[in-house]
Amino acid sequence: MDNKVVLNYDGKSYEYPIVESTIGDKGINISKLRDETGLITLDLGYKNTGATISDITYLDGDKGELFYRGYPIEQIAEKSNFTEVMYLLLHGELPNKSQFEQFERNIKAHNFVAEEMKKIIDAFPRSAHPMGVLSALTSALTAFSPVTVDPKTKEDRAAEVMLAKFAHLCAWTYRKKQSLPLNHGDNSLNYVENFYRMTFRLPNEEFEIDPIIVDSLDKLLILHADHEQNCSTSTVRMVGSAHTGIFASMSAGVSALWGPLHGGANQAVIEMLEMINEDGGDVAKYVAKAKDKNDSFRLMGFGHRVYKNFDPRARIIKKAADGILNQLGIHDNTLDIAMQLEKVALEDDYFIEKKLYPNVDFYSGIIYRALGIPTEMFTVMFALGRLPGWISQWKEMRLKNDPIGRPRQVYQGAQKRDYVPMEDR
Ligand code: SDX
Repeated sequence: MDNKVVLNYDGKSYEYPIVESTIGDKGINISKLRDETGLITLDLGYKNTGATISDITYLDGDKGELFYRGYPIEQIAEKSNFTEVMYLLLHGELPNKSQFEQFERNIKAHNFVAEEMKKIIDAFPRSAHPMGVLSALTSALTAFSPVTVDPKTKEDRAAEVMLAKFAHLCAWTYRKKQSLPLNHGDNSLNYVENFYRMTFRLPNEEFEIDPIIVDSLDKLLILHADHEQNCSTSTVRMVGSAHTGIFASMSAGVSALWGPLHGGANQAVIEMLEMINEDGGDVAKYVAKAKDKNDSFRLMGFGHRVYKNFDPRARIIKKAADGILNQLGIHDNTLDIAMQLEKVALEDDYFIEKKLYPNVDFYSGIIYRALGIPTEMFTVMFALGRLPGWISQWKEMRLKNDPIGRPRQVYQGAQKRDYVPMEDR
């Protein structure tokens, strides 16, 4: 197998070395391309471009495989828990008992938020979308938690502060919408129980921790924890590459995730399923709309930049959805609509040819809704799950001293020209 590629251009030959991978895509190192040839590459949406070298998460879009630090997502989802996954993504290995307990203690040490933060969230209208509130509050943490932002510090304080505070902010975006008092954490609970209690505890009654709901939330958060160089993670890396602090970098990730083509799709899926349901459940009509080039409608929750086979997370969530709805004794006919839509789409040549399969967002909203989480909060849940991935990728970028991100462009604008005074135009 060659360890270099040869580029012939303008009568000359240039060689560029191949960067080997443990598994998956190898890369052509083109760091000298422009100096040697005067050319740059152009790859809209970076569909063929590696932005970094990473050891954290691997996914194979053709095989439908996803590994966190080498561990298959199916095993992690079945055997691990969200706090352990945080440790694994951040430190690269599964923790032993004492490492796990110390990690939990470190997070619990920051299990509260500055009271002044309540004044910031109070200033928002109740109608504000939770993701806009979350992005603002995350950035505001900079003012109240001056932690060491140098990820080279071994104690990972910045990561543990971020993990502890962010759970509050996510819970508070829900409380704001419901006009409920804002709770602080309870260190007698684990991370997911604590988030669940901060979110749903009513001021006038004791709070019961429902193990079915907590286990389902834990699994969903695990499935969203990292996904290599997706849009929001790439945003976090780009912002962090300027040596911006952790809170502002994570805030940028929240904003990128909000988009309906990315994490916002889980909200868009439920809104789409409800629209189909209200329109008599005619899934064939909406599959036809999705195929129509003149119709901007897309099947939300379908397709993926990398997975050209089933998204392994969608498979796990689909299986869990059925189980959780049965355990909770809920019949949600959007799940029936989703199953019908999936069946019709997967038998349709358009979706087969374009390799469009259900992605992680297609079924997750059905479970969130069964757990009593309102639609507008679905992407907040995605953000809570993705936070350990964002932090791990941000930390790796800083520890590996990745350079500041500064892509080039192919310019097709006006040639150089002189200024024309207003009276002569
Ligand atoms: C996430 O990157 C990640 O890892 C993301 C994520 C993560 O964990 O971080 O996995 C989470 O963001 C999942 C994706 C959620 N988004 C949606 O469900 C929105 C609906 N999906 C599409 O918008 C689309 O599939 C994307 C954005 C997910 C992927 O877009 P690409 O890779 O840029 O592909 P494309 O838009 O160029 O589409 C290729 C073709 C086009 O047709 P042609 O122009 O070639 O004729 O497929 C068609 C598209 O029109 N197509 C769809 C479609 N998705 C793609 N047609 C109908 N319905 C769809 N959903």
